[in-house]
Amino acid sequence: MADLDDLTGPTVRPRRLRTTPALRRMVAETSVEARQLVLPLFVREGIDAPVPISSMPGVVQHTRDTLKAAVAEAAELGLGGVMLFGIPATKDATGSGALDPDGILNAAIADVVGEVGDAVTVMADLCLDEFTDHGHCGVVDAQGRVDNDATLRLYAAMAQAQAAAGVHMVGPSGMMDGQVSVIRAALDADAHTDVSILAYSAKYASAFYGPFREAVDSSLQGDRRTYQQDPANALEGVREALLDVEQGADLVMVKPALAYLDVVRQVRDAVDVPVAAYNISGEYAMVEAAAANGWIDREPAILETLTSIRRAGADVILTYWASEAARLLAR
Ligand code: PBG
Repeated sequence: MADLDDLTGPTVRPRRLRTTPALRRMVAETSVEARQLVLPLFVREGIDAPVPISSMPGVVQHTRDTLKAAVAEAAELGLGGVMLFGIPATKDATGSGALDPDGILNAAIADVVGEVGDAVTVMADLCLDEFTDHGHCGVVDAQGRVDNDATLRLYAAMAQAQAAAGVHMVGPSGMMDGQVSVIRAALDADAHTDVSILAYSAKYASAFYGPFREAVDSSLQGDRRTYQQDPANALEGVREALLDVEQGADLVMVKPALAYLDVVRQVRDAVDVPVAAYNISGEYAMVEAAAANGWIDREPAILETLTSIRRAGADVILTYWASEAARLLAR
């Protein structure tokens, strides 16, 4: 038996680098910066005051005016970008509001680009589900299936409408096969070669999109499993990302983020373009709900969430906390 008084203790002590805040800051492997954050924003047609989204406390459906103010603030805070979602007053089977140059999303793009110019990257969701009465991301055929190729034609026209309105980057999120190449060709045909594409590449059929349905007033008929990915599959996510890079995606995205951090890492290691991750509505709602109940400490939980997504390999994060996080990081 060794005499306890003779113990010298370990020579190697990882705790040494944790001694002071300055030291911990110096050796931190990962950081989160405002420029890496993108704020998703909702704009609704025909309202004259913002409408709160009950399942996403602190997030609202904006009027065209309050949207401009939110984007100006995002620019002021040095955010990387904003991602716009439109909620039309009326929806129909083909989502025609998405193609209308005066439709809510295209009008809002023109508003905010007029307001902030190039000070912040203005992105728009390129998908039909906010505009269709059945809530699917594309048109539905006589058999009730979402018709891939018929939908592609609408995506091409939607991309051209968004580019005409002045968007900097389009975000195709409908998971139709071939959507990136069709959108790239449509943009180039209209001489919008500078409009870039953030492809929602590995997008999973997730239960965590729940609050988003309220945010865009969507009542989905059925589910999205014939086009969004099975949560069981990671390799398939890498394959989708590689296909999108081949088709001309400028950035690729994994969505949701938290339940798919392994996919974020695998995609980061597989591609040579920036990788984004979408910290989605249900992930936001979980933290907000737990914090509202006093079960977790809200601000550190937000920063830890964003740090974990960066550590997994995301270069860019879409998060409803973008503006608040920029403020927290600045103090
Ligand atoms: C599709 C789209 C969705 C989200 C972003 N783009 C919903 C879906 O595919 O079901 C979800 C974002 C979130 O939940 O925060 N237009």
